[in-house]
Amino acid sequence: MHDWPGFFISFEGLDGAGKSTQVASLAGALRGRHYDVRTVRPNGTLLGELLHSFVLQHQRGPALDPWSEALLFNAERVQLLREVVVPALQRGAVVIADRYADSTLAYQGGGRGVDLDALRRLHRDACGDIWPDLTVYLDIPPSVAAQRQRAQQLPLDRIEGSPEEFHAAVHRAFDRLAEASPDRIVRVDATRPAMEVARDVSDIAVARMPSVVGVPAARTGAHA
Ligand SMILES: Nc1ncnc2c1ncn2[C@@H]1O[C@H](COP(=O)(O)OP(=O)(O)O)[C@@H](O)[C@H]1O
Ligand SMILES: [Mg+2]
Repeated sequence: MHDWPGFFISFEGLDGAGKSTQVASLAGALRGRHYDVRTVRPNGTLLGELLHSFVLQHQRGPALDPWSEALLFNAERVQLLREVVVPALQRGAVVIADRYADSTLAYQGGGRGVDLDALRRLHRDACGDIWPDLTVYLDIPPSVAAQRQRAQQLPLDRIEGSPEEFHAAVHRAFDRLAEASPDRIVRVDATRPAMEVARDVSDIAVARMPSVVGVPAARTGAHA
């Protein structure tokens, strides 16, 4: 465990589960309570931006090896931790991540078949074994996730456009991760209306935070 004053929350789940929606809601709810909130995405650094567009748009030529995919996402994460997440946690912020290490376990592990223990070792060695204090798993059947994505009528990236069976395997992997880490990962039924989900998520987060953070921004304004 790390002894920084901040609190680290991640959101996980399939594309279309509502992660971006819920990250924004929770950030707003916590800012309303005067917490210093920093939201992050996997591609939230210069390196991440470059690698992410490469990995997700890599359409031509031979398929990316699953290990390449796993290593590139880990490279993004190392940089994100060093440049953004760890400094924010050290100053006492609440960091909210839209996807984090569980996504690599679910997608490159469960979805693509990379050995899970190897991925966990990689996370330990490259990312300092930094895990969120709380992970909200937005659980939604793959068919509903796919419907929501279709309704958006946006072009799908390489991973989003993978066959149904791939998304089903990723969903099963998220389920297993949640079962294996009940203290960290809270499963939320994400098929309900967004406002209902947001209320639950906010209750869960607030109930877990005070004893750990307890330093609303109003009191840390001195070093803002
Ligand atoms: N609870 C919900 N019920 C119905 N539609 C939702 C819900 N949450 C999000 N959406 C819609 O589904 C789509 C995907 O949501 P988004 O937050 O982008 O998911 P993700 O970031 O997990 O891919 C968006 O069009 C969004 O407005
Ligand atoms: Mg999103």
